[in-house]
Amino acid sequence: MNKAYSEFDETYFKKMLKNNALYFDQKIRKFLKQKNFGVLTKPIEYSILGQGKRLRPLLCMETSKVFNVPNDVSIFCAIAIECIHTYSLVHDDLPSMDDDDLRRGQPTIHKKWNEATAILVGDALQSLSFEALSTCEFKVSDQVKNKLIWGLARKSGASGMVLGQALDIEAESSKKQLELDEISKLQEYKTGKLISWSCEVGPIIAGENTGPFVLYASKIGLAFQIIDDILDVTSSSKTLGKKAGKDIDKNKATFVSKLGLDNSKKKAFELVSEACEAISGFKDRSRNLYQIANFIVSRRF
Ligand code: IPE
Ligand code: IPE
Ligand code: MG
Ligand code: MG
Ligand code: MG
Repeated sequence: MNKAYSEFDETYFKKMLKNNALYFDQKIRKFLKQKNFGVLTKPIEYSILGQGKRLRPLLCMETSKVFNVPNDVSIFCAIAIECIHTYSLVHDDLPSMDDDDLRRGQPTIHKKWNEATAILVGDALQSLSFEALSTCEFKVSDQVKNKLIWGLARKSGASGMVLGQALDIEAESSKKQLELDEISKLQEYKTGKLISWSCEVGPIIAGENTGPFVLYASKIGLAFQIIDDILDVTSSSKTLGKKAGKDIDKNKATFVSKLGLDNSKKKAFELVSEACEAISGFKDRSRNLYQIANFIVSRRF
């Protein structure tokens, strides 16, 4: 592995993250403009055009760049995954789930509107995601399209993110503390599965082996949730744009609750170095993916 590329270059990364968000926001605005959502227009735009990091879109676009897949092709996957991710956040914040009032620095949908609207915005975003993948403007073969749609259906539903969310909610009221492998499984599903799909986008479109990317994704996915759980304890609501300190109150099963802060951080760093190793065969073409992996453990928001 090229040492210089595997070390985190914060200035380089910040620029990449910002440019990606600008490009993504411009494209999703254009995509939404063609639609007519009636009374749901405002709450849908409010949710998806909020200040997200656009990390999953970045992974779709960057794994695509490894294989020279152009941005105007991979952008449809970026839109699809951000719609699913945003739907998962809108529902995650509902009173019957994590009951949160703040998301991406603004009041949650059920606070700004009401609970029914939040449920419907989530439902709408889920369908919109599959609309983005099945549109004829997304110019890939039917076989590739089918593989992407099938993969996202599995990784977002009850074989993926939704199952993880169910395990997370179940653990809150469980009398016995979850074991570490059970927490890993819960996190692999609720967070890892959508990250995994994002990382498969490039090789699937290019018809290449997804193996190294799935391994990379499994490592950064778990590291991402461990850092989310650490930030919940160490950061502030202002910095995060969502309420801090809520996991202890809700008796959430996290790495931090099991291992403490220092060991959790150590685990996240180990995972990131394993992630970089998984894609080291791509040499300099994986420079940006190294940077993303390193951002995941050094992020403050
Ligand atoms: C938050 O995801 C939810 C988790 C899976 C931990 P992000 O931290 O990527 O949220 P946004 O998209 O930047 O708001
Ligand atoms: C959310 O995990 C995972 C999904 C939305 C699928 P968290 O509940 O830890 O996310 P935050 O902390 O509310 O963003
Ligand atoms: Mg949650
Ligand atoms: Mg939550
Ligand atoms: Mg959290």
